[in-house]
Amino acid sequence: MQNRTSVRDIYRKYENGEPLTMLTAYDAPIAAQVDAGGVDMILVGDSAGDNHLGYDDTLPVTMEEALSNTAAVDRATENAMVVGDLPFLSYGASMEESVKNAGRFMKEAGADAVKLETAPHGDTTIDIIARLTELGIPTMGHIGFTPQRMHQIGGAYIQGRGHTSSAALDALVETAERLEEAGVFTIVLETITEETGKVVTEAVDVPTIGIGAGRHVDGQVLVTTDVLGLGGEAFKLSKQYADIDSEIRSAVETYVSEVENGDFPAEENVYDPLDE
Ligand code: KIV
Repeated sequence: MQNRTSVRDIYRKYENGEPLTMLTAYDAPIAAQVDAGGVDMILVGDSAGDNHLGYDDTLPVTMEEALSNTAAVDRATENAMVVGDLPFLSYGASMEESVKNAGRFMKEAGADAVKLETAPHGDTTIDIIARLTELGIPTMGHIGFTPQRMHQIGGAYIQGRGHTSSAALDALVETAERLEEAGVFTIVLETITEETGKVVTEAVDVPTIGIGAGRHVDGQVLVTTDVLGLGGEAFKLSKQYADIDSEIRSAVETYVSEVENGDFPAEENVYDPLDE
């Protein structure tokens, strides 16, 4: 039995006013390091689409790819809660298919929870989330900029400004309150102003986890490839803490030149008849 961070642990931190931490991972080696680094939750995001699988965005990610990534992260994670991210159109077409697909993350891939993006006033998704939580699947909401709706939104624009459109502040607050009623254990707030992050966070009694949502939220999430400088882009909402691209390139260049000039393999790399 794994002893990973549970929903109760998340709430204990939240009630003590301790910030929650989440990072993404899509494979075992990165998950092992992210876990050892001490995050509360690892999100096996559909951001794998553009950060791991070579797609332009998250939309092409399939259930099989998402399950395979989640299972790899599950195998490498000891302490953090593993959150599987339902890909575009793996939920919403019917209640039956949505429940079945969410269940596969738990039953087949070892996730401890799932996340679903929700449009402003997203009745269908809110009903699905209510069903999932009734069935015992801890579910994380995700509002604000939701990348699965990027063609509808028209790009990664700041959401929750003003009071007139369906992406406005009132709509985000109402959607967050309905997600709370539906039973979510946390809500991701993406690409909104700091003021909107504060208002939404004050409106609900579930932890909010921000990405580009400012400082007045209950926790933060970032995409690990951006944090590591691993093929990522520099975004205002993110922070690069390492430059792994340069490390990899320099290691590969050194390997190529050592093979080409005969420095590798060296004496210590070759087997002797007496070796075990
Ligand atoms: O897929 C993902 O990585 C996400 C985060 C940006 C919250 O949804």
